[in-house]
Amino acid sequence: MTALTDMADLSIEDGIAIITIDNPPVNALSQGVRQGIKDGVAQCLADDSVNAIVLICAGRTFIAGADITEFGGPPKEPGLHPTLADMENSSKPIIAAIHGTALGGGLETALVCNYRVCDAGARFGLPEVNLGLLPGAGGTQRLPRMVGPEKALQMVTSGAQIGADEALREGLVDEIVANDLRAGAIAFARKVLTEKRPLTKIRDREDKLIAARENPELFDKVRKSIARKTRGFLAPEYNIRCIEAAVNLPFEEGVKEERKLFMELMTGSQSAAQQYFFFAERQAAKIPDVPADTPEIPINKVGVIGAGTMGGGISMNMANVGIPVIMVETQQEALDHGLGVIRKNYENTASKGRISAQDVKDRCGLISGSLDLSELADCDLIIEAVFENMELKREIFKKLDEIAKPGAILASNTSALNINEIAAVTSRPEAVIGLHFFSPANVMKLLEIVRGDKSGKDVIKTCMAFAKRIKKTAVLVGVCPGFVGNRILAKRQAQANQLILEGALPHEVDKVLFEFGLPMGPFQMSDLAGLDIGWNKETSKGETIRDVLCEADRRGQKTGTGFYDYDKNRVPSPSPVVEKLILEFSEKTGHQRREISEDEILERCLYPMINEGAKILDEGIAIRASDVDVTWVYGYGWPVYRGGPMHYGDSLGLDKVVATLRKYHEMTGNADFEPAPLMVRLAEEGRGFKDL
Ligand code: CAA
Repeated sequence: MTALTDMADLSIEDGIAIITIDNPPVNALSQGVRQGIKDGVAQCLADDSVNAIVLICAGRTFIAGADITEFGGPPKEPGLHPTLADMENSSKPIIAAIHGTALGGGLETALVCNYRVCDAGARFGLPEVNLGLLPGAGGTQRLPRMVGPEKALQMVTSGAQIGADEALREGLVDEIVANDLRAGAIAFARKVLTEKRPLTKIRDREDKLIAARENPELFDKVRKSIARKTRGFLAPEYNIRCIEAAVNLPFEEGVKEERKLFMELMTGSQSAAQQYFFFAERQAAKIPDVPADTPEIPINKVGVIGAGTMGGGISMNMANVGIPVIMVETQQEALDHGLGVIRKNYENTASKGRISAQDVKDRCGLISGSLDLSELADCDLIIEAVFENMELKREIFKKLDEIAKPGAILASNTSALNINEIAAVTSRPEAVIGLHFFSPANVMKLLEIVRGDKSGKDVIKTCMAFAKRIKKTAVLVGVCPGFVGNRILAKRQAQANQLILEGALPHEVDKVLFEFGLPMGPFQMSDLAGLDIGWNKETSKGETIRDVLCEADRRGQKTGTGFYDYDKNRVPSPSPVVEKLILEFSEKTGHQRREISEDEILERCLYPMINEGAKILDEGIAIRASDVDVTWVYGYGWPVYRGGPMHYGDSLGLDKVVATLRKYHEMTGNADFEPAPLMVRLAEEGRGFKDL
């Protein structure tokens, strides 16, 4: 065996050369890998004893793509293009032997080989769209030639992977190897030689493109089908254009178009934000003071207190991954209702073909109900999900302390209350932690894990791992009112409320934030949540617009009216009644209404969020700025192509953010515009949150 570089080596067995890539953890196409492949192929071509070449990877996976850490830096020779060209032009057959995931540049590498074999667990995909990119090394031109434009469109616009069986059916691989992949690939190479199989090149194939040339509507159909999901994103459209080029242009021209569009995306702000977010998400899992060898508490059974919207949604997370869960309620009717809603949810999902009837049965079978708290005695994790009332929560935790087995984790799903005060009523504050799910809890990806002053490290480690198990992304935060997500949300809401007093209307504010990329604006969000959360009919004195609307029984979507009027399909339209109420309220509270620009709406809603994020960082409530961004992308739908509020602040330049905050501070006197000392310091030093 000869080392080609520190990431690749070459061995020759009876005329078959084996180039092995070894670049943990995912065999990304770093400089040393590219150099190794290029040198390895050259050596094989120069060596008369070599008749065929197998490209295989060590470790857990085939090449999982370009090395994202090299993006944005100076180019390192050799580039991927010349490396792949050498492979494709090889006069000796090259066979890719694939295990794990062949993704992005990894799949593109496999596509320039003459043949591909894989093991049964292999998966294939072009996930560049998730990084705001497109496959820039010929993937958009070769994949449709292999699997047909329709399948290719679906893969490049969603980033979805296909498994080995489908890859075989689609013609993406030539053989699935049953046992030893390396031996199987060598045997396949010998077969290619003995059968004198041709040195086929995917680029020369046209057969699967012909039908699409006669069906140009295909592309607009795809555009339409993904429009809602991909609103605001550039990359999905660019990926579609590349497949269109593959269908309609000669190969070389298609490659040129791919290159041009790739460079546009690569140098744009969306991809920078999405690449940043790729690492942000992975960073969030790392807790500096919880060592990797901290023991985890096994979680085999979960209890959930409360069978309402939150409790039900939380329980579904467990059932979805096969963990038995028991929901406890105080009234049979509420319990039956909660269990019924869960069943209906699953049946709806099944009717859309996303799960099977058997899945519905299995999942419902994993969720039981009880009216007796003491039935939680054998649970490893108990999550309280009753309404936000400290006294009630403390009472429940006192009881849990008596009931729960030693070692059980006692969690509260509070979205704002002090975990330390809850923990204090138990004899085991180290077992108490916050697990803040976001509504709908079975859908939203974020789990804010709230660390109390005394939460045990094993409890934190277990909850972080548990989040991954139930397919959530966890962010660990400290105790403060509203934690990270809702504390920042409150600042935006305060400004939105203020703006409608000063001259804007709810739909104008909502439009600006929707066009920024958020799923909805603050007033649509309030209507969805219900305006009467925390509102009291008995004590309401018309002191806010919210009070005024609730007093008029406009309590949000559930009553058909709120800030908006809703039709029977819950489509909102601006309400003249609300406009009148707002104008009256403005006048009553002494506001001189004026024209408010879209820029002012955007800045006044978003900059205080960045400011609050800075305060949160300074107080140590979030571990890192990127954790704040993960919270906002996965908890509130902040558009990932803008990275998150902190990345957005960095991309604007913190000096600009500070100057704008000062301008509004002077104008309004509102303390939320007083720039956080941390942000002022960073701005003065010409740095950003990314440099912390
Ligand atoms: N480049 C650099 N580092 C990468 C990487 C890549 N392409 N893919 C993963 N990593 C790193 C992660 O940051 C992580 O590092 P830390 O341990 O330091 O946090 C480590 O590898 C392990 O990654 P995961 O935690 O994600 O491991 P996993 O087992 O859950 O998932 C995976 C493995 C499916 C490969 C996943 O990492 C993944 O999806 N990677 C990205 C794949 C991708 O997008 N490829 C396309 C790249 S762009 C491209 O190829 C452009 C082109 O056309 C040339």
